[in-house]
Amino acid sequence: MVHRYLWRNIESAVSKALQETTAKIPAVLDVGCGNKPYADLFTGCKYIGVDISDEDSSPDIIGSATQIPVQDGFADIVISTQVIEHVPEPLAMVRECHRVLKKGGFFILTGPFYWPLHEEPFDFYRFTKYGFEHLLKQANFSAWDIKEDGGNWAQFFLSANLILNRRHVFLRTFLNSLGLVLDRVNFKKSSPSNYSILAKK
Ligand SMILES: C[S@@+](CC[C@H](N)C(=O)[O-])C[C@H]1O[C@@H](n2cnc3c(N)ncnc32)[C@H](O)[C@@H]1O
Repeated sequence: MVHRYLWRNIESAVSKALQETTAKIPAVLDVGCGNKPYADLFTGCKYIGVDISDEDSSPDIIGSATQIPVQDGFADIVISTQVIEHVPEPLAMVRECHRVLKKGGFFILTGPFYWPLHEEPFDFYRFTKYGFEHLLKQANFSAWDIKEDGGNWAQFFLSANLILNRRHVFLRTFLNSLGLVLDRVNFKKSSPSNYSILAKK
């Protein structure tokens, strides 16, 4: 359910960034690319994945999100999904993503507000929308749009699902659907599981 929201928000951010990019073949940097789940959204682009490790990921370049080994203004679009919580210095990462973007370039960033510990012990932060806004301002981005990936009901039932044993398939499916329906009836967004952001340099 969360991925359904996340996927929709990422697709919409990518489509807006591609529409507004003037480059013939936009250069796209995926920072903390893992196994590049969104690469297919960038057909016709020069798409380059950067990751700190090639263990369980498939980067084109090995490098840190706080020291990306490309020159200033290299990219038309920088995308970084579910990485920022793993970076000890998130402001340094957002500043670095700003540095490698062309003026007018787009930064697509996603990260959690609520999610259980993962990739331990390299799981350092959770973010509010004001925290993200603060980082973007500090890094000199000129504009941004922050979207919740689901509402409070989705997050509530996601928490229940994460506690339940994987064997409870029917109950989990039911709770997932209930979260989706209740979100539609009453979309409260003070406690989403995740945020998706489209920012402009
Ligand atoms: C949860 S995975 C997300 C992978 C992918 N972006 C996705 O959405 O599926 C986090 C990724 O960030 C990478 N990573 C963690 N710290 C990093 C850093 N400081 N610099 C670059 N990549 C980093 C990890 O190696 C891992 O591939």
